[in-house]
Amino acid sequence: MTRILIINGPNLNLLGVREPGIYGNSSMETYLETLRSRYSNYTIEYFQSNHEGEIIDKLHSEGFDEGLKGIVLNAGAYTHTSLAIADAISAINVPVIEVHISNVHAREEVRHRSMISGVCCGVIAGFGMDSYRLAIEAIKAR
Ligand code: DQA
Repeated sequence: MTRILIINGPNLNLLGVREPGIYGNSSMETYLETLRSRYSNYTIEYFQSNHEGEIIDKLHSEGFDEGLKGIVLNAGAYTHTSLAIADAISAINVPVIEVHISNVHAREEVRHRSMISGVCCGVIAGFGMDSYRLAIEAIKAR
């Protein structure tokens, strides 16, 4: 089965608990069940890390796999700081879609800049957890 990989960065292990007014009440695990039943023709894999280097290692280890159709990446705060993650995305072959739950452009100015947008295929932000589903639709349509 065709694979899609979702990677979540720092603090996104706390979805459902963390600032629910911004990020909602659903845990990622619960939301993944919804995604997996909706996209049962795909294998939706999930990886979360609070560590920049682990995210880079994951991009390297998966990013040359021809069976992987796309990577949905919510790099969390590393979005705004990590040239190293941007370089990793540039280095790999698998297309990467940048995702944010919140509309980062409606928030503090520090969140308006993304280090990774220019090396991703596209960006989806502001649709709550549905941002992940919209990214999967974008990967499917490619
Ligand atoms: C986020 C937005 C980032 O600015 C923030 O640091 C996050 C989550 C989002 O999904 O809205 O951790 O990527």
